[in-house]
Amino acid sequence: MRPKNLKFPFTWEQRQPILHEGVFIVPHYYALHDQWRDLDGLFSKRELHVEFCSGNGDWVLEKAKQNPSQQWVAVEMQFERVQKIWSKMRNQNVTNLLIVSGKAQEFVRYYLPDGCAAEVFVNFPDPWPKDRHAKHRLIQQEFVMELARIVKPGGTATYATDDPTYCSQMVSEMCLHPNWKSCFPDPFYVKQWENYGDSWFKNLWEGKGREFFYIQFARSLC
Ligand SMILES: C[S@@+](CC[C@H](N)C(=O)[O-])C[C@H]1O[C@@H](n2cnc3c(N)ncnc32)[C@H](O)[C@@H]1O
Repeated sequence: MRPKNLKFPFTWEQRQPILHEGVFIVPHYYALHDQWRDLDGLFSKRELHVEFCSGNGDWVLEKAKQNPSQQWVAVEMQFERVQKIWSKMRNQNVTNLLIVSGKAQEFVRYYLPDGCAAEVFVNFPDPWPKDRHAKHRLIQQEFVMELARIVKPGGTATYATDDPTYCSQMVSEMCLHPNWKSCFPDPFYVKQWENYGDSWFKNLWEGKGREFFYIQFARSLC
């Protein structure tokens, strides 16, 4: 199976949320997200482990293979990258991974029920280093609030980045929310995480000698 074997299932005018070949498509610039009814229990039947910003999917595919009893979800907004994850999923016969083609913010807000996730991860999200672009960063208060809604009490949110500025923003946004408690003492990150798993960007930055910051917060029980 090659990436190009996954075709986009509709034209722009016909766009709608749909499960197609193991990929759930969340349409962009779409006004009817609220009408989605999770009739097959797609997101509520099993506890979810979700990676946002999956890129070409190496990290999440490995996690799904290592944990066959868990349901994993890979969320990626670029369709060419979704195609890459999909071809690896098919070729490696991974059956416990759902790929979501769409924006993390829209998928979480409109499609995930309260307390459905045990763990959420964001690995090496785009850092948007220029001040005027910082508004595009994913980890902002609105998303942090949505994560507090979908992660069950006792569950965790874990982020990995090589960018010290984004690391500080992630930590302060999480500390601002009353339902997240850091799993690490001040400064609320660690620089080493044995066997965290490999991703394309992690390997790229490792090769260039960059430092990593790992952040983990637990969803409080109340
Ligand atoms: C720097 S790459 C990291 C990919 C992968 N996690 C890795 O470590 O190799 C960031 C990825 O996040 C995706 N992305 C950025 N913003 C997103 C959003 N709002 N929702 C879903 N995916 C997003 C980009 O398309 C890109 O593939």
